[in-house]
Amino acid sequence: MSEKKRRFYIRTFGCQMNESDSERISGLLARAGAVKSERPEEADLIIVNTCAVREKSEQKLLSYLGRLAQIRNKRNVRVAVVGCVAQLRGWELLGKAAAVDFVLGPDNTAELLTLMQEGAPQKHVSTSRSKEWPETPPGLIQRDSQFSGYVTVMEGCDNFCAYCIVPYTRGREKYRPLRSVLEEVRDLAGKGYLEAQLLGQNVNSYLDPDTGRQFPDLLKEVAAVQGIEWIRFLTSHPRNFRPEIVETMAGTRKVCRELHLPLQSGSTAVLKRMRRGYTREAYLDIVSRLRRLMPGINLSTDIIVGFPGETDRNFEETIEVLRQVRFSNLFSFRYSPRPLTEASKLEDSVPKEVKQRRLEEVQRLQREIQLEDHSRLVGQTMRVLCQGRSRKTPQLFSGRNEGNQVVNFRSDEDSTGRFAEVRITGCGPFSLLGEKTS
Ligand code: 5AD
Ligand code: SF4
Repeated sequence: MSEKKRRFYIRTFGCQMNESDSERISGLLARAGAVKSERPEEADLIIVNTCAVREKSEQKLLSYLGRLAQIRNKRNVRVAVVGCVAQLRGWELLGKAAAVDFVLGPDNTAELLTLMQEGAPQKHVSTSRSKEWPETPPGLIQRDSQFSGYVTVMEGCDNFCAYCIVPYTRGREKYRPLRSVLEEVRDLAGKGYLEAQLLGQNVNSYLDPDTGRQFPDLLKEVAAVQGIEWIRFLTSHPRNFRPEIVETMAGTRKVCRELHLPLQSGSTAVLKRMRRGYTREAYLDIVSRLRRLMPGINLSTDIIVGFPGETDRNFEETIEVLRQVRFSNLFSFRYSPRPLTEASKLEDSVPKEVKQRRLEEVQRLQREIQLEDHSRLVGQTMRVLCQGRSRKTPQLFSGRNEGNQVVNFRSDEDSTGRFAEVRITGCGPFSLLGEKTS
């Protein structure tokens, strides 16, 4: 009689990098004969991939672990916490949450292969760091999407922005060999993928460890792969967003006319205290260069409100930049002090209510900007990569345009995983509405 297959369930919190790591973990376990399960109640191993960037992310994890404890009380299931919180908290997690059996940092997730077996230790913690790039054969990743693939090109961060925990959880920058990146992109193209999303905490500082070639070369090489039609990358840092990168984007038609460029604050004084390494003017210079060479490019950003010492005037400067740049999408956060960071030694001086008021003001303005800018697109026809039926309104299909805006559309035919030409007929602040024309 054959042995019963082990079943695993994986829940991902946080950013695209974590989603991509979860796809890699799933592939690794599947190759070892385990089966991915859609429900935690059916699994022998529950993996929780975690985010530590804000205190709220950690709180969400603890409440999720509380829910898992109920499942674990009823049946024999092991729980592994992996990723950033695992790296940060290590052994501490075993004491904090009764439902945790294993704790594995971002460089240690391959250990799940042995921990998944029967007879594994009761409790296990591993948070050692590795300087080497963890090679994963391209065919091994179990991706959620059949047409848009994440490709990790670097990991970690050397910037040490004053508020940010990432350099402590993800470690120092390490780069994936270009050869290996291209192998994976070719593998995607061979499987019919249309879009590649290059990932890393700081993609612009990419440096091929074998040849010393840099980010612009990486973009050109990826664009040369036949079959991949859209290339996106994330995240960029204004500090090292060199003119050459803008020129390469402009000269490489497959690179989507869209860029996520975290501003964090529109005040040079606050930026300085955040140790961001650029001024408001330098940021605006990059924006004008991008728009000069790629008219119509969509820009998205991250904003932190209420950084220690942020005055009303400092905050007003952020609002001014938002009005001036008119971002197509924006993620805003209340400052939250994180362990180990430089800013955690400063007094968290902006009262909670003030942070909340500022957050709401940013979001109100951004909603207004998006609604106005979306209205201008009504009547235009655009290419959309269809992701499937809209979750909220299943009679519509949903996808993204080149500028990374969400487009919901009517269509008689299912174009999931393909490009559709969509004529825009309406909009809301967070999405466009249209109908398929061809
Ligand atoms: N508090 C609030 N927001 C933060 N971010 C990073 N660290 C913090 C923090 N301590 C935000 C930044 C970053 C995004 C991923 O999360 O805006 O770009
Ligand atoms: Fe954090 Fe700054 Fe690195 Fe981004 S660049 S991950 S904000 S330290």
